[in-house]
Amino acid sequence: MKIRKSNPSDLDNIKKLEKEVYGYILTEQLNNDELHTHFILEDENIFGYISIWHDELKAQIESIIINDKNKGYGQILFKYALDYLKGYTITLEVRKSNSIAIHIYEKYGFKTVTIRKNYYSNNEDAYLMLKEC
Ligand SMILES: CC(C)(COP(=O)(O)OP(=O)(O)OC[C@H]1O[C@@H](n2cnc3c(N)ncnc32)[C@H](O)[C@@H]1OP(=O)(O)O)[C@@H](O)C(=O)NCCC(=O)NCCS
Repeated sequence: MKIRKSNPSDLDNIKKLEKEVYGYILTEQLNNDELHTHFILEDENIFGYISIWHDELKAQIESIIINDKNKGYGQILFKYALDYLKGYTITLEVRKSNSIAIHIYEKYGFKTVTIRKNYYSNNEDAYLMLKEC
């Protein structure tokens, strides 16, 4: 298993995952500045990524997707990103119904600070979660 920074040739795989999982391509909606970092996890037939935005003070986890769920890869990648962001206050948003993701975020110290009503296009609420590293 390998975790590495993304390169331009990963973009098609990232877009494909986003389309399958979110129904739209998140990467195309993000500001195309240099503050985004994508880490890729690869292992045989496993492919996943985590997308992070940070400036000098704060950080946001924008997205994490693994193509094969519940085999432990998501947590490996998530922990890797937390190590990368050591010292930052990190926020993220997650669908109220996304129990796997919420389980992982709480397990690694994130707390819900507020609910964003009707945050998603289907009107589902989001939890805004925060961790002080
Ligand atoms: C969220 C995601 C990245 C997690 O990666 P993963 O590889 O599936 O997760 P892991 O296998 O590392 O860990 C799953 C954990 O959730 C737990 N879990 C499984 N099903 C669960 C459920 N229905 N409710 C709560 N927890 C659950 C597992 O027990 C495990 O926790 P544990 O190690 O403490 O026992 C992955 O599921 C995914 O790509 N989901 C779709 C995209 C997505 O929702 N991304 C997050 C957007 S904010």
